[in-house]
Amino acid sequence: MIIAVDGPAAAGKGTIARALAREFGFHFLDTGSLYRMVALSVLREGADPADSAAAVKAAKTLDPKGFRDAELRGEVVGGAASIVAVIPEVRAALLELQRAFARQEPGAVLDGRDIGTVVCPDAEVKLFITASPEVRAARRHRELGGKESYEAVLADIRARDERDSMRATAPLVPAADAVVVDTSDMDIAGAVAACVAIIARKTA
Ligand code: CDP
Repeated sequence: MIIAVDGPAAAGKGTIARALAREFGFHFLDTGSLYRMVALSVLREGADPADSAAAVKAAKTLDPKGFRDAELRGEVVGGAASIVAVIPEVRAALLELQRAFARQEPGAVLDGRDIGTVVCPDAEVKLFITASPEVRAARRHRELGGKESYEAVLADIRARDERDSMRATAPLVPAADAVVVDTSDMDIAGAVAACVAIIARKTA
């Protein structure tokens, strides 16, 4: 069984997806980390994330063991990830890895932008987790421990939403059969409970 969890930056999808994987005993993949790894590889080479030759090479030779979580999380790497993610050959290079992960028994939860639409269009459950840009910026601002101003984080989030939604390949959009969950007024426990209820209904 595959649970696809998509949505914009800082909507809570990573935390929710991890909690769902724990709840059901499924494998969990944060697909955004793959794009972040590609972006960081390009930055480490001193190249520009928009340089498609450098980004495609990084995606094709990606070794997930070469990265620590802390160095992947910042907004600079997140922004660079959304730049390499526009390049169709980068997305193609990461596709089979994600699909192979999703096929594992007894099931898998994948979180990202295009899981329900492109990576796993046959997923049994598709959740699209969203929240207002202001709420998402406030959450990310807190997560970053005040390292960047709220206004700067909000501007980054808006720029990333725009890039993720407007790109030609695999844009950020809910699948036709996704259930949209707006977490603006929910805490994590409430959002996880809402998603567990949706999954129970879908798989009954
Ligand atoms: O945690 P957050 O939502 O801020 O970002 P992320 O999920 O780590 O993703 C970083 C960037 O990778 C996104 O802004 C997308 O541009 C890209 N991405 C994508 O294109 N497709 C995915 N399945 C996952 C991430």
